[in-house]
Amino acid sequence: MTQDELKLAVAQAAIAYVVEGEIVGVGTGSTANFFIDELAKIKHKVKAAVASSEATAERLRGHGITVLDLNDVSSMPVYIDGADEITPHGAMIKGGGAALTREKIVASVADKFICIADGSKLVEMLGKFPLPVEVIPMSHAVVARKLNAMGGEARLRLKDGKPLLTDNGNMILDVHGLQIADPVALEAEINNIVGVVTVGLFARHGANVCLLGTPEGVKTLT
Ligand code: 5RP
Repeated sequence: MTQDELKLAVAQAAIAYVVEGEIVGVGTGSTANFFIDELAKIKHKVKAAVASSEATAERLRGHGITVLDLNDVSSMPVYIDGADEITPHGAMIKGGGAALTREKIVASVADKFICIADGSKLVEMLGKFPLPVEVIPMSHAVVARKLNAMGGEARLRLKDGKPLLTDNGNMILDVHGLQIADPVALEAEINNIVGVVTVGLFARHGANVCLLGTPEGVKTLT
């Protein structure tokens, strides 16, 4: 099976977690896009969606799905999103698509985080995938120095030769070379650096369920 076939399989499996008549939180990325396309097939059964990025909002609206502002929503049963890496305990690295801050905010309002990922994303220890950190633009150099002092190698993410700007107008530092033995502690430590908006570690609140696409079928990790 191709990686896209595995992503489609987990996106289809995630539909079973969508609660009829309720609001669904929707992530960002290629796996989330497969999920949005599946959600479109049952759109009459959901009340509305909350999007974790402008790109996701646009795709949802393109399918005729109502997108609500998070400020108008106080709860939702599930948030469904992909990951760049996930451990068997549900700790994740996210932000490969630069949407980590909005993803973490929307996920914080949901009762459950359902992670959908192809099998290549499952790791014993996080850190091979460079850890994204969203920073206030004026602070990228000082934050990079602090992350380097912690043993990583922070690189400013570029797009077309210029610093990439997130939906929030901030920049992303990708931290290479970390071996993250204690993701909960590192999440707190990096979030405490002045200038950091959000670190792409989702460990204190990780995934409640992971639907993992494998050639043998979709495996459910809880
Ligand atoms: C975006 C994310 C994505 O969930 C993550 O990058 C995985 O993406 P994909 O499904 O394309 O592999 O965190 O910010």
